[in-house]
Amino acid sequence: MKAVVASNLTKKFRNLVAVDSVSFSVAEGEVLGLLGPNGAGKSTTIRLLSTLIKPTSGTASVFGYDICTDPDKVRACISLVTDRIILYERLTAFENLVFFARLAGLPKEEANRRSINLLEEVNMIKWKDKQVRFFSSGMKQRINVARALINHPRILFLDEPTIGLDPRSTSNMRKLISSLKENGQSVILTTHLIHDAEILCDRILLIHTGNIIASGTFEELRSLVRRYNDSEPASLEDVYLLLMPE
Ligand SMILES: Nc1ncnc2c1ncn2[C@@H]1O[C@H](COP(=O)(O)OP(=O)(O)OP(=O)(O)O)[C@@H](O)[C@H]1O
Ligand SMILES: [Mg+2]
Repeated sequence: MKAVVASNLTKKFRNLVAVDSVSFSVAEGEVLGLLGPNGAGKSTTIRLLSTLIKPTSGTASVFGYDICTDPDKVRACISLVTDRIILYERLTAFENLVFFARLAGLPKEEANRRSINLLEEVNMIKWKDKQVRFFSSGMKQRINVARALINHPRILFLDEPTIGLDPRSTSNMRKLISSLKENGQSVILTTHLIHDAEILCDRILLIHTGNIIASGTFEELRSLVRRYNDSEPASLEDVYLLLMPE
């Protein structure tokens, strides 16, 4: 089964078409990258797929569940990380994770165990009993990522997840994305770090003013450039700069 199928997905804000009839799919276990300039419609696409906003027209399904008619079922198999931290400042790191684990329906013992495991995974175990309000923004983001993984999401939406993270945390985020993929979990990643997209994403959508202007694996995008441009792009950044309108 496909993780995501979007068909003519469209979102308008008054006269502005933020997402313009896009169609794409994501396979199970696939990492899809959304790349494009500021205002291209990447976050809006992710907000649509995570049922935070409703499409103006068109639709999408997540693991077979329609985002419009079955949003609760969609929410049960997704998680979302953006630069907005979704944590309670006055709870400790551990209490936050247990809270979100219980909210996702995990029994108490399992919620405790999983919270500890995730705190280890994001290298925050020694801070487990400190209130989140005392953390730096990067530390908060690490707990925020652990929070997003607590419900074993079948697909994780990452909207610029490494903003504000130090180099080691950024590198850990890369490792985490790779390990999700090894687990068979899917990821949709938006990032302006093109090198990250090149090493992490199985397929890439280049988005401009709400439209998909090109899509495919890095190799497919490269051959597209070769066909039109007679040049030999070395990196995804070259491909991006050649294909993306100014
Ligand atoms: N709630 C909203 N109300 C009105 N316009 C909006 C709203 N959300 C987004 N937009 C507009 O939709 C367009 C797409 O925005 P979006 O946030 O999806 O871009 P993005 O590709 O994520 O950009 P960035 O790289 O800067 O994060 C922009 O022109 C933005 O101004
Ligand atoms: Mg955005």
